[in-house]
Amino acid sequence: MSIERTLSIVKPNAVEDNNIGNIVGRFEKEGLRIAAMKMVKLSKERAEGFYIEHKSRSFFTSLVTFMTSGPVVLMVLEGEKAVERNRTIMGSTNPADAANGTLRKLYAKSLEANAVHGSDSLASAEREISYFFDKNELCGRF
Ligand code: CMP
Repeated sequence: MSIERTLSIVKPNAVEDNNIGNIVGRFEKEGLRIAAMKMVKLSKERAEGFYIEHKSRSFFTSLVTFMTSGPVVLMVLEGEKAVERNRTIMGSTNPADAANGTLRKLYAKSLEANAVHGSDSLASAEREISYFFDKNELCGRF
């Protein structure tokens, strides 16, 4: 067994559209466990720090503005191969390319307002989880 943890964010557009429950329910239905969860409104500094790897990209300022435009739900998902399974459930970053039935196909509005964020690797997951959660906030089984 390869039990992993990964970070998921329900983005402001999906919170605004009342899709938190649909998204959390989907993760649970797919067998991923919620090991931690909180709803927050990110400050500009916190959003910039989270997306620091994209700092030089043309979309960085707009992405930070969007991610601070309303509350988000931060979650740690736990389960076997959680990083890859979460990415499959989310679908492609650009909803135009996302497969039918994926979260982004169902709930995204655009490439930026693409409903959910998920860690892209185990190394990113470790960084992203520790960016938002203290160790004592993790309530997983493993
Ligand atoms: P996310 O998984 O949150 O990681 C970075 C985000 O940048 C991505 O989802 C998109 O919402 C957003 N983004 C905006 N423009 C682009 C782009 N051209 N390529 C990749 N990501 C983009």
